[in-house]
Formats: sequence, C-alpha cells, structure tokens
Amino acid sequence: MKILVIGSGGREHALVWKLAQSPHATQMWCAPGNAGIAQERLAMNGAAVECINLGAEELPKLLAFARENRVDFTIVGPDNPLALGIVDLFQRHGLKIWGVNQRAARFESSKVFSQKFMEKYGIPTAAAGTFSDAAAAKGFCATLGGKCVVKADGLALGKGVLICRNQSEAEQAVEEIMVGKAFGTAGANVVIQEFLEGIEVSLHALCDGTTAKVFPTSQDHKRALDGDAGLNTGGMGTYSPTPFLTGAQLADAARSILDPFMRGCAAEGIDFRGLLYPGIMLTRSGPKVLEFNARFGDPETQIYLTRLENDLVELLDASASGTLGDQELKWKPEASVCVIMASGGYPGSYPKGKVIKGLDTANALPHIKVFHAGTAMKDGQLVTNGGRVLGVTALGQDLRAAQAAAYTAVEKIQFEGAHYRRDIAAKAF
Ligand code: AMP
Ligand code: GLY
Repeated sequence: MKILVIGSGGREHALVWKLAQSPHATQMWCAPGNAGIAQERLAMNGAAVECINLGAEELPKLLAFARENRVDFTIVGPDNPLALGIVDLFQRHGLKIWGVNQRAARFESSKVFSQKFMEKYGIPTAAAGTFSDAAAAKGFCATLGGKCVVKADGLALGKGVLICRNQSEAEQAVEEIMVGKAFGTAGANVVIQEFLEGIEVSLHALCDGTTAKVFPTSQDHKRALDGDAGLNTGGMGTYSPTPFLTGAQLADAARSILDPFMRGCAAEGIDFRGLLYPGIMLTRSGPKVLEFNARFGDPETQIYLTRLENDLVELLDASASGTLGDQELKWKPEASVCVIMASGGYPGSYPKGKVIKGLDTANALPHIKVFHAGTAMKDGQLVTNGGRVLGVTALGQDLRAAQAAAYTAVEKIQFEGAHYRRDIAAKAF
C-alpha cells in the first residue's frame, strides 16, 4: 500500500514510524514532514520515507500529488486540513483517506457547536452558556461568581481560552475576545463554562461512524514550566497509563461520553470516522468534557503509538471503512513517557537553526525513541526548526522506570536554549 501522511510535527513522526512498521506499507511520503520523518525506513522493504515540499493546508496540491502518485491511503495528522475539508475533497475524487470529514471536524473547529451538542445529547460537561453578545456574556459570568473559563468559538491556535478567577477578570476576557477581537473572528461567539476543579486527563477513541474504541488514559502537561506554572503550550509531555481511573472507571467514563456522542452523531447525520479526543476533567461529580478535538493529540500520539501492539495501517483502514467492530485494540503492558524538548522562549518567540547534538546517543539507549517535532537539516547538520523540537519517548516496566529512562535520554541531547519540564509524569506518584 502506498501511504501519504500529512503534517510535520511529533504526532506525524509517531504516525509515520508506526505505519512504517506495517507489512502493508510498501511506499510512504510525508507532506511536509521533518528531518526525523525523513530518516524512517519501511519494515517491509527498507525504503526511505520521502518528505515532500507541500504544506498541510495546500489541499489542491496534495490532491494532485495523491492522484499522480496513485496513493492508496492518506492519513491526516493536524486539525487545520480536516477543518478545511481535505477528507471530503479526497473522497469526492475516490481516494481513501483517514481523518474526520468537515462536518465532524466542527467538534474541534467550533466550541459553540460542541457545547450545544453536548447539552442536547446529555454528555457530561461544565455548566455553560454560548453568547454572541458581550453584555449577555458578562451577565452570565456574574451568575458563576466570575470563576469561569471564556472560550473563543473558533480555532485560535490553542490560545483562545481564558481562565478567570473573578468577575473583573471575566469581563476583561469577554472584552478582549469579543470586542478587542484578540483572536479575530474566532471570538465573534464565545462559550463560557463554569471553572471545574479536578484532575485533567486526555481520552482518545478511534471511531468508524458507528463504533468507538477507547484508548487507555493519558495525561498531557500544557503549561510551559514545572508545577504547571508558566504559559499554555501545545503540550510539554505526556504519559500513559494514568493512575487516576481504574479500567472499570475508564469504561464508565467512555460509556457516559462516547455512547451519547455516537448516538448524537447518528441523529445529526454526522459520519464521525477518525479520532475523537475529549479533554476531560475528573471532578468530584464524575468525568466532565472540557472540549473535543477531532484528531490525535500531540504529544499523546507519541506515547500511545509506542504502546500500541496492533498494525496501525489495519486500524486506520478499519476506522475509515466502518469495520472497527472487528478489531481489538491491544496495548503493551509497559508504561510510556514522552518529554518534550522545546526551543528557548517557547511558547513565546524563539530562535531557529540551533544545532542539535547527542541524538544518536539518546536513540541508542534501550526502549527510547526520539520523535522529531520541529527539526530540519541545514548544511548537513540537524537543527531546531520549531517551538517544540523533540519528543523523547521511553517505554518502561512501570511509570517510574519509563520516566527515569526518558530523562536519561533527554540529558544526552543538547541544543542552545533547550528547555523541558523536569516533572513529566510526576503527578502519577
Ligand atoms: P480547551 O482548549 O477548551 O481544552 O481549554 C484549554 C485548557 O483550559 C484545558 O486544557 C484546561 O486546562 C483549561 N480549561 C478549559 N475549560 C476548563 C473548565 N471549564 N474548567 C477548568 N479548566 C478548564
Ligand atoms: N496535547 C494537546 C493537543 O494535542 O491538543
């Protein structure tokens, strides 16, 4: 099977790495990929994965490439091409593609849509209101005593969420988003949720339109600094499994969220084939959904795919084809920890082009895989090329062993300004 993967981050490196292990994969491309992806080889025939110079949002060019090269199966990593309708476009041209279609991508691209859907179909979530009028929005914040979370409706690069501790912060947040248009048109409408206390975990479920198969739990670390201080980022590290839900509790949570979700999709005529990633808060009154994403998490993918035993080509094919019911997800019993090494300054502005050293030494350690996120080759040297640079991922007999192995590998790697959290997985202990 000839496979094209779309995207360029750590998630896409993990997808390419795992897909390349499948005996079904005979040729692979990644658009645009990164320096680590370009080093992957197919298990089947040793062929290199070829990175092609096409952006993830260049839909017509990607379509032309897939047609010219007779790509059998395209796999989409990031949310933007999904929201732009890449799946619908490829399907209209008779091409097989994995990822959610444009209607299903609404769960991520519109927080208002998701909130209303959750309320309509009884999915446990925060008490919330949706508003297009700033005065009404402020009034609702007051009913929550100002302790609330104000969310811009549309995609805002993960930044359109403001957490408020009191009414004056809430009014300022509403002003910034709705009046000041801090996130552009994404803020014409807002969702305001009550502030929920608890432990936040990531759920992932692979869906095929009727069946949803839930993954083990994982936990991301969104803040830039140790102890959850600093600014919000795309995610500084993940681990799986988490100790916060037993198998039975996870099954309960999945039932309370995924059953009404799939029922609601059927009722609304939404064919949800792809990955559903609910961010949830484990509150004293049970798990509640904060938001839906409609794609694999980054860096959740890195830890999930190092634990997954199944052939990923077969799983994603089943998800796209509606035959997931025949598949059983199998996970290695080992724990996995991924520590992100970021550029100095991230998530603010940061330099690029810093030479990366020690990667081969790190990768040679047992049970270690270093996924590239923002890297490039320049004059024959591996250099930094993004905010999140590497995802150092370790498997271990238990979480403590995986954590120790990940940090041993991190210490082998150097680039100027590198920063990483030293407490990934510490919440589990
Ligand atoms: P979102 O993009 O909606 O997941 O929000 C980004 C982050 O804000 C989440 O990962 C949570 O840490 C936090 N957050 C969002 N909604 C709430 C809420 N209702 N209560 C507490 N924290 C929240
Ligand atoms: N891990 C955060 C995200 O993928 O949105």
